[in-house]
Amino acid sequence: MQAVSGHAIWSSRFAFLMAAIGSAVGLGNIWRFPYLAGANGGGAFILVYILTIIAIALPILITEILLGRMGKASPIMSMRRLISAHGASGLWSIIGWGGTVGAFFVLSFYSVIGGWAIHYVTYAATGVFAGMNGDQAGALFADLTADPATLIAWHTIFMAVTVFIVAGGVKAGIERAVVILMPLLFLLLLGMAIYATTTAGFGEALRFMFDFRFQDIHPSTVLAAIGQGFFSLSVALGAMMTYGAYVDEKESISSSAIIIAIADTSVAILAGIAIFPLVFTYGLEPGSGPGLTFVTLPIAFGTLGSGIIVGIAFFTLLSVAAITSSISLLEPTVAWAEEKFTLSRVKLSILIGFGAWLLGFLTVFSFNHLAGFHPLAGLGLMKDKTFFDIFDFTTSNIVMPSVGFLMAVFAGWVLSSGVVAKALGAEKAVWFPFWRFLIRYVAPLGVISIFVANVLLPG
Ligand code: PHE
Repeated sequence: MQAVSGHAIWSSRFAFLMAAIGSAVGLGNIWRFPYLAGANGGGAFILVYILTIIAIALPILITEILLGRMGKASPIMSMRRLISAHGASGLWSIIGWGGTVGAFFVLSFYSVIGGWAIHYVTYAATGVFAGMNGDQAGALFADLTADPATLIAWHTIFMAVTVFIVAGGVKAGIERAVVILMPLLFLLLLGMAIYATTTAGFGEALRFMFDFRFQDIHPSTVLAAIGQGFFSLSVALGAMMTYGAYVDEKESISSSAIIIAIADTSVAILAGIAIFPLVFTYGLEPGSGPGLTFVTLPIAFGTLGSGIIVGIAFFTLLSVAAITSSISLLEPTVAWAEEKFTLSRVKLSILIGFGAWLLGFLTVFSFNHLAGFHPLAGLGLMKDKTFFDIFDFTTSNIVMPSVGFLMAVFAGWVLSSGVVAKALGAEKAVWFPFWRFLIRYVAPLGVISIFVANVLLPG
């Protein structure tokens, strides 16, 4: 079956769910969540994170999938259609553009980090982790990030795989692979979390993750939690909108979105339970930044015999999780380009992937040659940030919340209640007024007040 615009339709609800969970579950859960939680006070961050997922990110996820299914095209084209069908201002097209451009930027750095994951498969396979202590694991990671040539090589491989899959169409390869690989990743993570319970730092880790003090909650914690919620659920970059465009009219969007959010959040929490006990057992620093996952887990693998099998399995699955996310970052731009240009999908995927690959060099150099270079040194919040930090911070904490805010306002205030209820198939649903309240008031006001608080009360 073909959608109006010539795009494909998922072959089943299960296929859509797997693709969407594949998009949601990725480096955001296993790499980004633990290090942000570590840097933002642990329990305070995790509590705020869960609350903002329920009140803000999940309602917007429902909205985004819905807007995609209503528009049945790339985010840019879907918004254009919705604008003309409902007589809205052309300014709303910023939702489509903002998301698509944001996805392109995220793809550029995502691929570099995804490259680390693939490289770690080779470390595991050659027994590098055997008997490793905290310092050695730290040095291994530091050596990798200090070496631009190696980073570029793995970044290239990661991007090439992403392009290859997107060029072939999302349906053929990815649907089949994610069905098996995502549950496997979950099981392996569960195993590692169970292993972590046997380490000496487990109690301290639990306290770190689940004890919270109100005085630990700053506006910047909340902004980081909202940003992470958007990032982790793949919300507001057009990825879910594009996948939503391929969803059959009969499917329930709300229940799918809830399943996606539960799967995604459980993987993140599980990653925290696997990682923080090791942080405390080996005297590492929870707030040490983007290297956290890559420094802690190898120590655990190294204690498990030679750690070869589990290490290979884990980093392979992490790479797969990253790939199933990165394809959803490339897809919005490719879907748009397909509508716009006559070039083949293959050529367009290569061209766009090439652009993101080039942009990724700025991230590569942020860890070595340009590590001390702060391009926006004059700008308060940005003053100590490298290119990578700026891309990461701007997309997650500015672009995603803004686009998400606009999506909520568009669906909550511009589209009428009747139109939205019908499109969701929720005319009689008891949860509908509740969801509508969240996207009309809670999500927009929540995002705005956090922005304002961060400007007024920096730090
Ligand atoms: N959700 C993905 C992750 O957690 C990243 C992502 C963000 C993918 C936005 C698509 C869109 O790794």
